[in-house]
Amino acid sequence: MSVVYLNGEYLPAGEARISVNDRGFLFGDGVYEVTPAYRGRIFRWERHLDRMRRGLAAIGIDFDAAALVEVNRGLLARNDLERVPVAYVYVQVTRGIAPRTHAFPNPPVPPSVYGFAGRYDRPAREVWERGFKAVTVPDQRWALAEVKAVALLPNCLAQQAAVEAGASDAIFVRDGIALEGSHNNLFAVFGGVVATAPRSNYILHGVTRDLVIELAGELGLPVEERAIPLRELYRADEVFFTGTTTEVRPSVEVDGRMIGDGRVGPVARGLYDAFLEATGS
Ligand code: PDD
Repeated sequence: MSVVYLNGEYLPAGEARISVNDRGFLFGDGVYEVTPAYRGRIFRWERHLDRMRRGLAAIGIDFDAAALVEVNRGLLARNDLERVPVAYVYVQVTRGIAPRTHAFPNPPVPPSVYGFAGRYDRPAREVWERGFKAVTVPDQRWALAEVKAVALLPNCLAQQAAVEAGASDAIFVRDGIALEGSHNNLFAVFGGVVATAPRSNYILHGVTRDLVIELAGELGLPVEERAIPLRELYRADEVFFTGTTTEVRPSVEVDGRMIGDGRVGPVARGLYDAFLEATGS
């Protein structure tokens, strides 16, 4: 059985217990991170830490997230994930345990910290080369999407809509603009130019997104961080997603419409190869 981390202890997943009064359970009142590790090497931890710090500050939880790197290491070691090609570590911090009232407990209570780790199963290359499908959904999330909050109901509904449509990814559309996926960032290619939504409060500022923008630069591909209207997305040469549990995933169909010539394109392929190289995986 997998070993999880809960409030200072490592224990079998089946033995971990959390109070019904935890505000994560009652309100989704907390933030989380998912950090990849390639053969045990935790990748770009500082960026995940920065984002978690910003999220904690945004929702007013006083917690020193720096020590979580040890939890990441501890979970990888205890679950025998130090030698697997790709693993990921999930860590969440909630506002803690207190009788249910909307306002924060006063005085504050200790945050609850929970973590687990797992293996990431990368699709076989021939599956990747066939490409994937995406559908669009209205973006019904709150306007603080840059906070990696554990409250993910709109993201769950979006991904379920994708599954029910036989697709791999769901694209949030707000006011006609295609923003990001349910758990990944969105890119499109127009005439050799790589486009992705700019950092704002309407998208999560993905660590993989930043890496892929850097890799595009190294490959000499121009990148535009700009709004992508959905009507333009349908006419893109290529569409792909990026994320810790997505890596680089090309879509050859969006809402049943063929993207480009319906095949995985050279930009997604080049960036995926560069991603595999950069992560040493
Ligand atoms: N999701 N956008 C959203 C809404 C996300 O939830 C995620 C990550 C990303 C990509 O961020 P990054 O490249 O830093 O993983 C973009 C995680 C993996 C999850 O919810 O499981």
